[in-house]
Amino acid sequence: MASRSGFETVKRLCPTISVGILAADLLSLGSQISLLEGTDVGLMHFDVMDGCFCPMMTVGPLFIKAVRTRLLKDVHLMIQDPLPKLADYVAAGADVLTVHVESCVHLHRVLQEIGRMTNANDPERGLIRGVALNPGTPLESVQHVLDEVDMVLLLAINPGWGGQNFIDSTQLRLAKAREMIASAGRDILIGVDGGITRDNIGHVAQMGADIVVTGSAVFDGKAPVENAGFMLNRVRAL
Ligand code: DX5
Ligand code: ZN
Repeated sequence: MASRSGFETVKRLCPTISVGILAADLLSLGSQISLLEGTDVGLMHFDVMDGCFCPMMTVGPLFIKAVRTRLLKDVHLMIQDPLPKLADYVAAGADVLTVHVESCVHLHRVLQEIGRMTNANDPERGLIRGVALNPGTPLESVQHVLDEVDMVLLLAINPGWGGQNFIDSTQLRLAKAREMIASAGRDILIGVDGGITRDNIGHVAQMGADIVVTGSAVFDGKAPVENAGFMLNRVRAL
């Protein structure tokens, strides 16, 4: 069986945040990463968009590989048919690799494939396998693959852009996801991604999110260190 030691490491951090690095000032990326490394944040979230599965295009494996950081790389693939490209993202240093249920013809096979891959940062660590759902996708679509999953990532916005408003029905979805995972009897984390603000992050953590992804609320062009500390304190204050 694939190692879950990376999963256990992340689980010990939870509840926690994963910070969306693409919201940073990309022309000063090195210094922005250093700022983040000076905080208690343990996860760096990369939004990979192909202009096909979702309207925007962002970065690919070369960018992710070029980022040198002590933080775990949380790679969120919003790309059509990820199967042939998984190895590139693993080679780029993904620790968490998340695919969308809507983008995979053979979701189970994709998850199995990630489960057979070796973490390029540390072969002993294993990869954390995430499956993401858009706001309009029924939760049941992942019910039968939970044996191959370490994290269910609920999008609280439609993928494409940061800075959108949190969709309220996410609350009900989160509660249902918790029930579904409890009856599956496997240790699986729940992540929530999109629309997180200073005002709602505490509430989202209270709803039972283990990992809260936050982009524009941390990298707001002003005070990323203070913002990251604030967001972390809110999710930990449960
Ligand atoms: C949406 C991405 C999110 C998003 C988060 O397509 O998956 O990670 O950029 O950004 P904020 O926190 O600004 O909503
Ligand atoms: Zn994301």
